[in-house]
Amino acid sequence: MRHARFTRDRVTAAALLVAALAALPVAAQPPGDAARGREVFAGKHCARCHRPGGQPGAGPALEQLRRPQGAYALTGRLWNHAPAMFTALTQERLAWPAISVAEMGDLMAYLDADPRRDPAPDLGKGQLALVGKGCLKCHGFRREGGRLGPDLAERRASYAPPATWAATMWGHTPRMAAVAIQRGVLYPRFSGDEMVNLIGFLKSGAGPAEVTLPPDFPITRAASSPGQVTFSHAKHVAKGATCSACHMRDVKMTRGASGPMTMAALEKGTLCGACHDGKTTLGGTVVFPLDRCDGCHKD
Ligand code: HEC
Ligand code: HEC
Ligand code: HEC
Ligand code: HEC
Ligand code: HEC
Repeated sequence: MRHARFTRDRVTAAALLVAALAALPVAAQPPGDAARGREVFAGKHCARCHRPGGQPGAGPALEQLRRPQGAYALTGRLWNHAPAMFTALTQERLAWPAISVAEMGDLMAYLDADPRRDPAPDLGKGQLALVGKGCLKCHGFRREGGRLGPDLAERRASYAPPATWAATMWGHTPRMAAVAIQRGVLYPRFSGDEMVNLIGFLKSGAGPAEVTLPPDFPITRAASSPGQVTFSHAKHVAKGATCSACHMRDVKMTRGASGPMTMAALEKGTLCGACHDGKTTLGGTVVFPLDRCDGCHKD
């Protein structure tokens, strides 16, 4: 039958198109349609809060949203304002609007977001964002992190192109919010190039130990200290210590930010004392205990 055949050909054509799109290079995405994007903006409640020409609205004016920007940069902005929008919609008993990848592409075109405006990612900073933004409080990543969300190392298909990532992160909000409230996890905000760097790192497939580690550094020494302590990231990571083993606990990712490291604190099992207790095993060895003073203090 002609009609059925016509339909089947269309289906084949659509399947070929999907295959062709899947084969596009990582950064490429089909160009969105700004006119359709305007409809998405109206249909997903955005226009209720973001109004043009100085009309009062709950959010910044439309003109402030529609400006030349990077696509991942916009993803970061959308992520940031999710809690405000989530709260407002919940109060009005409105469901979180689902946005498909195609709709997100159109929305990006309407808001003048272009992936070519995003800078090249800094993988090292992306790795810091993954730990620093608290993603690993819920998600696994290789050998580290939590189990409340999927392992982020296994989700590489969702990381490109930008509209896919933006749609993924958009859909993530209500699912994450429920877990975040239960667990008391703060919703992290992204600024500057942080989202570009995070996605760049996740997409690269690199593991934490494969990007540049901070060089060894001396720990500020108290007057009474028996000798200089030098901390080595490289030696700890080589022994199998993951970033989150230290940085999701009490060690900050900025030198000096964790407060004074006193033996009293270490003996309570915090900071270095979390492992150097003569009991903790890592990389097949029992980590040397605090009474081996010259293991840490050198002169
Ligand atoms: C309930 C009101 C509300 C709705 C609905 C809403 N927004 Fe917002 N939006 C805000 C508020 C408030 C802010 C600023 C506060 C913040 O960023 O947390 C904001 C900020 C933004 C920003 C960041 C602006 C900047 O300069 O960084 C973007 C982009 C944005 N919204 C896009 C959207 C899109 C797209 C939609 C629809 C899918 C939407 N908003 C729906 C209230 C809303
Ligand atoms: C409070 C817990 C929590 C935090 C924090 C969190 N997530 Fe999630 N995430 C979840 C849950 C829950 C899911 C959904 C699992 C499901 O779909 O059943 C999820 C799903 C995802 C997915 C897969 C979505 C999909 O549809 O494939 C990605 C990607 C993701 N999260 C990235 C991140 C990133 C990046 C961060 C940090 C900026 C982050 N998450 C922080 C809880 C969290
Ligand atoms: C065994 C514990 C430990 C592990 C594992 C660890 N760090 Fe650190 N890191 C530290 C300590 C201690 C500091 C300094 C904190 C302070 O002075 O308050 C630090 C500081 C940093 C800094 C700031 C360095 C500077 O010069 O300002 C960065 C960046 C950092 N870590 C990244 C990482 C990354 C990435 C990983 C995983 C690959 C990692 N760390 C794993 C203990 C650790
Ligand atoms: C996540 C667990 C963990 C934490 C936290 C930790 N270490 Fe270690 N550390 C290890 C392991 C594992 C080794 C290697 C096994 C061994 O030598 O006993 C090691 C070895 C060392 C060594 C010998 C290797 C070298 O670098 O010369 C020093 C010194 C050291 N740690 C200092 C520190 C200091 C200082 C801190 C706190 C800032 C700290 N460690 C925190 C696990 C940890
Ligand atoms: C796992 C590493 C580690 C071991 C082992 C260790 N220390 Fe320390 N200690 C530190 C760090 C880090 C500091 C802070 C930097 C400094 O003051 O040198 C510190 C500081 C000190 C201080 C000055 C601050 C305070 O708490 O009074 C004294 C005194 C001290 N250590 C004595 C000792 C003695 C004695 C031993 C052995 C019984 C020992 N330490 C074993 C890591 C270690």
